[in-house]
Amino acid sequence: MSFTVAIDGPAAAGKGTISKAVAVHFGFAHLDTGLLYRAVGAKVLAGADPVAAARALDPADLDGDALRTAEVAQAASRVATDPAVRDALTAFQRGFAARPGGAVLDGRDIGTVICPGAQVKLFVTASAACRAERRWKELQAQGSDMTLETVLADVQARDARDAGRATAPLAAAADAVLIDTSDMSIADAVARTIAVIAAAQKSL
Ligand code: DC
Repeated sequence: MSFTVAIDGPAAAGKGTISKAVAVHFGFAHLDTGLLYRAVGAKVLAGADPVAAARALDPADLDGDALRTAEVAQAASRVATDPAVRDALTAFQRGFAARPGGAVLDGRDIGTVICPGAQVKLFVTASAACRAERRWKELQAQGSDMTLETVLADVQARDARDAGRATAPLAAAADAVLIDTSDMSIADAVARTIAVIAAAQKSL
């Protein structure tokens, strides 16, 4: 039987870090679904058609580092508003979720659209100011000279587009456990998530 953990939330709320730690803890496979949209966004920036790029996406295109720029993030958020792009990426995500041994997928619509039957659903969030500051520190460590104000404006633009789109908007599933990481350490957020998953495993 498959065991799926769906972790959704806005940009830089901590879902990536939490998902990775949880996958290691439980021995689950992990898919950062944002990378799929980022890979399509990067191809569109290079001149490709969004739907054709989504249909032709190859797991080899999911090289994290090149896709982590602010420009690619905005392009990803734009291509993600197209229902045909989302459709083209659905089967891959569902196939990943069904892996034997368990899987954790993080994104925006995992608990609501991709895996509505997931055994565990979490919605990880934090204030826009906290998320912008975390992203800004990450970018600084990578040598970027973006100001905190620019990063906050970017986060807010992406939030508005991701939550406001008609198809599969960023939203917490009705049965998701909410985790607000604004005033939480990463270690506490990971521990809380592990406890939620362990409780769900016990009740199976
Ligand atoms: O998680 P991320 O920041 O890498 O995601 C980049 C963009 O991709 C995000 O702004 C919206 C889109 N996305 C989406 O629409 N659905 C997902 N499941 C994951 C990401």
